[in-house]
Amino acid sequence: MTAPLLEVRDLVKHFTVRGAGLIGLGRRVVRAVDGVSFTIDEGETLGLVGESGCGKSTLARTILFLEEPTRGEILFQGQPLTAERVRELRRRAQMVFQDPYLSLPPRMKVRGIVGDPLQIHGLARGQALADRVARLLIDVGLKPDDAYKYPHELSGGQRQRVGIARALAVQPSLIIADEAVSSLDVSVQAQILNLLKDLQERHRLAYLFVSHDLGVVKYMSHRIAVMYLGQIVEMTTTAELHRHPLNPYTRALLSAIPSIHGKGRRRVQLQGEPPDPGNPPPGCKFHPRCPIAQSICEKEEPALKEWVPGHLVACHFALEASEELGAVGPESAAQVTP
Ligand SMILES: Nc1ncnc2c1ncn2[C@@H]1O[C@H](COP(=O)(O)OP(=O)(O)OP(=O)(O)O)[C@@H](O)[C@H]1O
Ligand SMILES: [Mg+2]
Repeated sequence: MTAPLLEVRDLVKHFTVRGAGLIGLGRRVVRAVDGVSFTIDEGETLGLVGESGCGKSTLARTILFLEEPTRGEILFQGQPLTAERVRELRRRAQMVFQDPYLSLPPRMKVRGIVGDPLQIHGLARGQALADRVARLLIDVGLKPDDAYKYPHELSGGQRQRVGIARALAVQPSLIIADEAVSSLDVSVQAQILNLLKDLQERHRLAYLFVSHDLGVVKYMSHRIAVMYLGQIVEMTTTAELHRHPLNPYTRALLSAIPSIHGKGRRRVQLQGEPPDPGNPPPGCKFHPRCPIAQSICEKEEPALKEWVPGHLVACHFALEASEELGAVGPESAAQVTP
């Protein structure tokens, strides 16, 4: 068996911030990412979903060493990543950001934006560089002439295509897309999502696809990890998650999506805001908002466990949920298209 493309083992990222404590100003630890483990295979999309502030961007940034991990291991093609091997990783794994307007240098023409990574990594120059940039622009649905434009001369969707071309330039095997379509109009979102899917097939790319929008994540992902307050609380295939959501938090997120297939599913209202990751509640971190919480949930934190084959859940009542939903394993959901 070959190693997964990316393996994250028990990754932790804590921020120490100054804040008002009980006795005047003190230091507080924000547990942005608090023990996260997962794998992504070559050519696979893992969706990462959760409410604002649950740690998605911090996790994405820590994987690329844009933030130094507090603890944990990151392996790329089975090799542990260390701070020294970051340069190599930065080529093999690229990031596509939320707001292409803010993430593209405004005074640089498209040809510089897309060509720079090729020069920096010593992959092309001169005519070969110009040819490669033109090919990349065509690849993402732009025209070779767009190379001579500035970001402000392009639409939001075109700018995001430039962001994608820049990421693709160095032929990565993994792209981390952090809210890549969140700032775009719905019709443009669909075009960019389809472009990403198309590029995945052509280049056998793997994606870590980060979004607060479970509808978008479902459309894009082979598997989904649901994050709550720095931790993964459920992870399985997209079809299985849709058919048998075993964590009450996932069920609440799912029932918030308008769906023609949603008939008969009991709607679970998600009330209030997530707690402060600098001061999380004891026990299960979701218990203050959970519709089925019992006293054990206030005291004991549930571990992420494989309740049915290929389906990981952190909930004391996952077994009850799986019986209620008739979940017998991922096979039962094999014919479902998300
Ligand atoms: N540099 C930092 N210093 C201190 N706290 C931080 C820092 N970066 C993030 N945080 C905190 O870590 C937590 C997770 O933030 P993060 O941006 O990763 O969440 P997110 O899931 O990406 O949210 P969103 O959906 O809004 O993008 C938040 O409480 C945030 O305030
Ligand atoms: Mg974010």
